[in-house]
Amino acid sequence: MKPQLRAQLLEEIKKVDAISAAPAILQPLLELMRLPSERISIEKVVELVSYDGAIAAQCLRLANSPFFGRRQTETVRSAVMALGLERVRSTLFGLCLNRVVPKDKWVIEPDAFWRHSLGCALVTQRMAKKIEYPQPEKAYLAGLLHDLGFLMNSVLYTEKFRECLRHAAAEHAPLHVIEEQILGFTHCESGQLLLEHWDLPTELAAAAGCHHDVRLLPTAGALACLVHLGDLLCRVRYLGYGYDEIMGVELGGDAAWQILVTTYPALGNMDLFRFTIDIDGAMEQIVATVDSVFGNKTITAAT
Ligand SMILES: [Fe+2]
Ligand SMILES: [Fe+2]
Repeated sequence: MKPQLRAQLLEEIKKVDAISAAPAILQPLLELMRLPSERISIEKVVELVSYDGAIAAQCLRLANSPFFGRRQTETVRSAVMALGLERVRSTLFGLCLNRVVPKDKWVIEPDAFWRHSLGCALVTQRMAKKIEYPQPEKAYLAGLLHDLGFLMNSVLYTEKFRECLRHAAAEHAPLHVIEEQILGFTHCESGQLLLEHWDLPTELAAAAGCHHDVRLLPTAGALACLVHLGDLLCRVRYLGYGYDEIMGVELGGDAAWQILVTTYPALGNMDLFRFTIDIDGAMEQIVATVDSVFGNKTITAAT
């Protein structure tokens, strides 16, 4: 991205808090997101979850979803306990971001976006656990936020971004390639700028910034590589943005895979075929989980 365009984009991003439909909990939630996990307090999380009835209901749905074993959870506190503080913090943030985009600025169905993002979070975390990455919850969060730039482009450049999606769908091409041609920057870049502007951990911003090509960042760490692979696996299993991309994926030959293998030898020993079957098995649950969280089912939450 040209430096002048970058400066211009950053100025636009700074206005997002004001023009978006972000709920009042966004700022206190951002403060919570900046804390190391050992400093998150259950009281604060329960308070923030309970602040908004719709968000509280969505957290309950997640705790009661098939992916988390359909626990019979009826209160916010027990949902927070069941899901774990870090998981709830990430989910709460995702749910809150859903409101950052005003209704008329969504360029695809919000459900499709969240199906992809939550799908990527769950697949990335699953892969992180398989290779014994030390912070699987961080992998979940990085997966959940990797396409945040998609929301930024929707809010800030709605019509042009719609055009990008139309072209990408017509050509069965990856979205970031078309964005580069039409906007001059990608959702990876706008997402990274937003995460940096919000002062969230640099590792998260870097993962968002290079999730379509880890070679863009010479220092791409394991987290960025995991997110890249999680995103790829979701897209080849039709959990993308609602259009078919023409893509052949050979995981073993992927740059992110090769970087990861050098740090996590467990990956080299992994039976790729079994792993993809395992992910396929989880996909159904992932889709059901997203549908139950972002669907229209009515549920009432008590604190
Ligand atoms: Fe993406
Ligand atoms: Fe993605």
